[in-house]
Amino acid sequence: MPDDASLCRTPDAVQSFLEGLYQSCRELRGGKVADYIPELAKVDPNLFGICLVTADGQVFEVGDTAHLFTIQSISKVFVQGLALEDHGRDYVLARVGVEPTGDAFNAIILDEASKRPYNPMVNAGAIATTSLIAGDGPTERLNRLLNMFRRYVGHDIVVDVATYVSERATGDRNRAMAYLMRHFKMVDWDIEEALDLYFQQCSVMVSCRDLAVMAATLANQGVNPMTGDRAVEAGYVRDMLSVMYTCGMYNFAGEWAYRVGLPAKSGVCGGIIAVVPDQLGIAVFSPPLDGRGNSVRGVRVCEAISQEFGLHLF
Ligand code: DON
Repeated sequence: MPDDASLCRTPDAVQSFLEGLYQSCRELRGGKVADYIPELAKVDPNLFGICLVTADGQVFEVGDTAHLFTIQSISKVFVQGLALEDHGRDYVLARVGVEPTGDAFNAIILDEASKRPYNPMVNAGAIATTSLIAGDGPTERLNRLLNMFRRYVGHDIVVDVATYVSERATGDRNRAMAYLMRHFKMVDWDIEEALDLYFQQCSVMVSCRDLAVMAATLANQGVNPMTGDRAVEAGYVRDMLSVMYTCGMYNFAGEWAYRVGLPAKSGVCGGIIAVVPDQLGIAVFSPPLDGRGNSVRGVRVCEAISQEFGLHLF
């Protein structure tokens, strides 16, 4: 069988490595499922899936890769891409910075000098980014957001209403950040509408396999390798990956860059995506999180894959 060009192994060898990794990481017991949003606390902590999709569309998967869960903060990367398409780099940069914070994802902080949120990956920056989605009213904005996600996954997607309602009911911390940004005139339209769209964006349902296809789309310069459809303009992929690299894993971003060496994004759902430019999208789903909100098994799996296939960018 020919080697898989991106991973320098036969497809059987890649699959068998993933199966071994899945078995060994299943033994990892640490971490705690997110419970600050009641709907998230209901997830089965034993769910575990790993999926790789190459930039030319080969799929390797093991475990619960078809199970649906809410995308949570992983959405922030893709919404940043949409905001860039809608307004261009300079406008978006004037509203949301690109500096890592070293603080938790839900910290209520803005840059003192510019009054901008630090980056599009922390909640404050993500809410500001969502408020940049163009459209005539809430329905058009939601439809544009859902269409954007459809291009990345290659099929229809839905918002989990129970999670959305749960997020909205318990989202006062996000509300506080949003009102602070409104005070500094950093958000254009109605703040409750922006929050509503942010809560819906976090509640979009995906599988681990969907996330791997989304990551592979970024690896493939914005073209979904399964459908051939362009999901985002190629010129903005570099911006998205740069911010993922420096800010995607929150206050673990530095150690992640050191150990794994790939642009990545995590979410409180227990998902992590990582991108090997021009080669591969990686996704892991395992709900128990460490103290910084990153999946315990997800971090271990990505580190092992990066080491095994020599994927660290440096
Ligand atoms: O804003 C929130 O609280 C969530 N809906 C998204 C947070 C999230 O996934 C942060 N990531 N670790």
